[in-house]
Amino acid sequence: MNTRQLKVRVAREAIDYARERLAPDAVLGIGTGSTVNYFIDKLPQLISQFSSCVASSEASAKRLIRKGFNVIDLSDAKAVQLYVDGADEADCARRLIKGGGGALTREKIVATASEHFLCIIDESKHKARLGAFPLAVEVLPMAAVQVGKALTSLGGRPVLRADFCSDEGNQIIDVSNLDFSDPLALESEINQIPGVVANGIFARRTADQVMLASQSGISVY
Ligand code: A5P
Repeated sequence: MNTRQLKVRVAREAIDYARERLAPDAVLGIGTGSTVNYFIDKLPQLISQFSSCVASSEASAKRLIRKGFNVIDLSDAKAVQLYVDGADEADCARRLIKGGGGALTREKIVATASEHFLCIIDESKHKARLGAFPLAVEVLPMAAVQVGKALTSLGGRPVLRADFCSDEGNQIIDVSNLDFSDPLALESEINQIPGVVANGIFARRTADQVMLASQSGISVY
């Protein structure tokens, strides 16, 4: 199977996973990216099994609305029972790198607000150690140069994402070469740089379960 087929497969399995965990009054959190898009495309079969969705991006919200789902603001949800999202990398401790699509800030907010976070990935995302994928750091535009210098002093190689504006009107800096020996400490350290809105390390709020599609089938850990 190629990567696209693995993404479709894990999205299909995640539908069955959600079917068992949703209730008619439940709110379902929906992430962002191509893997989640396959999940959204299959979601109409569950339309009567939950009440509404919270989306982590404008793109996902539009896709959900086109399919007839009720999309509400996070602040109007009493609880989010399940959040389903992809990742750029996941390790064995279910720590993640996210933000390749630039939606990391809302993704982190919704993931943190959710009772259960299922991360769906294909085998190319599963890593013994995080950090090969450039880390997305969302910054206030006026602070981009300053934040870039601070990231360089941490050993990183920052590159401003060209022609990109986040849903919140901010810029993204993609950083390679960071030391990921302690992802939780690195997540906190980057968050302390003035002007940083969020970074794509999910070590404080890990996934509760990772569903992994590989050539040998589906595994959940
Ligand atoms: C979006 O900002 C990201 O966090 C995505 O979840 C991540 O990039 C995975 O995307 P794909 O499912 O498209 O690989």
